[in-house]
Amino acid sequence: MTSYHICSIPGDGVGQEVVPQALRVLDAVAAANVFGVSIEEQSWGSAYYAATGRMMPEDGHEIVARADATIFGAVGSPDVPDTISAWGLILSTRQKLDLYLNLRPIRSLPSPLGKGTDFDFLIVRENTEGEYMDVGGRPFKGRSSEMAVQTVIFTAAGIERAIEGAFGRVPAGGLLTSVTKSNALPRTMGLWDDVAQAVADRHPYVRWESMHVDAVAFQMVRDPGRFDVLVASNLFGDILSDLGAGLQGSLGFAASGNVNPEHGTGVFEPIHGSAPDIAGQGTANPCGAINSVAMLLDFLGEERAATEVTEAVDRTLADGVATPDVGGAASTVEFTDEVLSRLSPAGAIDDGSQIREETS
Ligand code: NAI
Ligand code: MG
Repeated sequence: MTSYHICSIPGDGVGQEVVPQALRVLDAVAAANVFGVSIEEQSWGSAYYAATGRMMPEDGHEIVARADATIFGAVGSPDVPDTISAWGLILSTRQKLDLYLNLRPIRSLPSPLGKGTDFDFLIVRENTEGEYMDVGGRPFKGRSSEMAVQTVIFTAAGIERAIEGAFGRVPAGGLLTSVTKSNALPRTMGLWDDVAQAVADRHPYVRWESMHVDAVAFQMVRDPGRFDVLVASNLFGDILSDLGAGLQGSLGFAASGNVNPEHGTGVFEPIHGSAPDIAGQGTANPCGAINSVAMLLDFLGEERAATEVTEAVDRTLADGVATPDVGGAASTVEFTDEVLSRLSPAGAIDDGSQIREETS
């Protein structure tokens, strides 16, 4: 029997609540589809930082690299500066493992707070460079001459592989939108546009357009159904995907995958953060985490299991089950119970094929 080694990093806040539920779904769907999963659970995050001075151990990236795939929750705690929590774990993992594509599918869901029109598009976010480079400084801190420099670094090679990855994901007859801002940022975004044109020239049969990010934001609200695949820089892709989640009705809905198609592993995570405002209440929406498990399964080649998961989530929502963020009353666990009950019947049977190891 095929067995997959999955690293689990719930992290902080609601990450601790949604990831265990997503793993229940993973366990159930593995049993139903007759493959094994062994979960290596990591206690990395802000509590780990308080105890050790690091968000993850020094060889943490290697541990993630060794797994077939990782499910990650979120990091961020009122007790730890956000720069430390973000750079100490997820941002550095994306860069060190060269997970250069961040895939963020956004589609309309049966949700009372959703936009109410049909849309289904993929945001491909460049994930290793651009605006999210830890380069710069804050000289003269505390003085009237204080200044801040945050250096944005784009490389032609980095842009090219992101845009190429996006072109390769455009469905037949679909539209590729390259997100730019070269009117105001002529150097970096000028390079982006030139590379986009060069990549587009290699794909003469794919329809494509270049659109300024502000116009994309407007169109995404006005007519989200017009988009199929968008490719954007690290910052633009980050912002537009939260906007996409807003169209779905909650940040709790959107899933994502950090991948490098040429080699290695993948890290799958809901796009939301640790949501300290609702953490500990047991009410977080687990859909983003559960659908991240679906993306993880797809990445592993378990397409049937992946489809079963997304269909069970869709049926749960269509039946009116909802967490409080979208006006419902279901807790995180209750919502997941409903998803589990809608998986194929065998999915509810734990045949003991899973082995859980607890490590720190
Ligand atoms: P956030 O995504 O944590 O929360 C924004 C809003 O969405 C809040 O009102 C929250 O209650 C709601 N929300 C988020 N996830 C939800 C869920 N599953 N169910 C229901 N409602 C949900 O973003 P925010 O407030 O900007 O950041 C909080 C912390 O998370 C910060 O420390 C930030 O640095 C960190 N963060 C971490 C990320 C990661 O680890 N990948 C990504 C984004 C933020
Ligand atoms: Mg974000």
